Amino acid sequence: MSFEHIHLRIPGPTPVAPRIQRAMNRPMVGHRSGEFSKMLMETLERAKRLFQTEQDIMVVSGSGTAGLEMAVANLVTPGDTVLVLVTGVFGDRFAKIAAAYGANVKRLDVEWGMGIDPDAVQEALTADPAIKAVFATQSETSTGVANDIEGIGKVVREFGKLFVVDAVSSLGAMELKMDEWGVDICVTGSQKALMLPPGLALIAVSELAWKAIDANQNPRFYLDLRAYKKSLKDQTTPYTPAVSLIYGLAESLAMLEEVGYENSFRRHLLMRDMVRAAVKALRLPFFTEETYASPTVTAVNGGGFDPEAVRKIMRQEFGIVLAGGQQHLKGKIFRIGHMGYMTPLEMLSTIAALEVALKKVGWEFELGSGVRAAQEVLLG
Ligand SMILES: Cc1ncc(COP(=O)(O)O)c(C=O)c1O
Repeated sequence: MSFEHIHLRIPGPTPVAPRIQRAMNRPMVGHRSGEFSKMLMETLERAKRLFQTEQDIMVVSGSGTAGLEMAVANLVTPGDTVLVLVTGVFGDRFAKIAAAYGANVKRLDVEWGMGIDPDAVQEALTADPAIKAVFATQSETSTGVANDIEGIGKVVREFGKLFVVDAVSSLGAMELKMDEWGVDICVTGSQKALMLPPGLALIAVSELAWKAIDANQNPRFYLDLRAYKKSLKDQTTPYTPAVSLIYGLAESLAMLEEVGYENSFRRHLLMRDMVRAAVKALRLPFFTEETYASPTVTAVNGGGFDPEAVRKIMRQEFGIVLAGGQQHLKGKIFRIGHMGYMTPLEMLSTIAALEVALKKVGWEFELGSGVRAAQEVLLG
């Protein structure tokens, strides 16, 4: 299979929209030029609608993890107690970053495949008044779980704590009302619902969080949010930005607005429902508890067949790339990404190919039943 025939159905990186690809091919410009400044500021202004915030959006060249580390490095002073809600690999990563910065990390772990109950957050905050901030993941990519950020946000606000959300694999595909839901720091990355290549992290900070950031004496340099804030006043970034990716970001946000955020959220829910209907019809076991099913990725349990063999056939025969499991789920599940530059058409073709792969590994089901179930969801 040639590289031109790769169909990414992983939860990031996702396919890059051709319009975005073309925008990124524009000739290079000086990042301190008036032309670039104008484009940067217009783009960051637009990004406020993505985050649903009145706050400034800052952009850093780095992957999503750079954004997560930026949140921690600026907010956490060694010795601070923080509560990290862990529903999978990325919650675990937040906990590791916080520990690396010297935080006293309290974890609220749930069984993987389950989401966080806001009442459990309430209990954890009641039990330990020293907690300064709560860290959560909106869509836990490793398990296909969507957490109730609005519900958790309500609890965190009641307790007057800071609330940090990893929206790397959700922003643009799932509703997140940063200001209304009381999110103090929100982070996303370029290679997911934004339909861009990897390499950018976007971050927004509430007034309350700025107070904590300004008071924090932690050493930091490239990831110092204060430097990004200061540069914004001069319509620039503190260091050379990823110019081509920012051209792409401008195009991505324009596309999302043309489509309409509400329509994007609806399309992701539809794709999720099509995939889940197919998985059910094919008698495959879900990994994720139904009520927490993420609109951007669906995790399927192996057991009865080898998920790695299915992934191999999909990749070799159709050029369709599915994701495997991470950490202890390696070899146990496969994940279908349905995020970003994807439509119901891609779901139908992915399910049709999946049926072929499943037959080849000996899984028993009626051929066509998965596609049919997805078509029925599509027809409504
Ligand atoms: C929810 C979530 N958080 C954080 C990350 C880390 O982002 P990156 O791999 O770009 O550093 C990812 C990447 O898959 C993710 O899905």
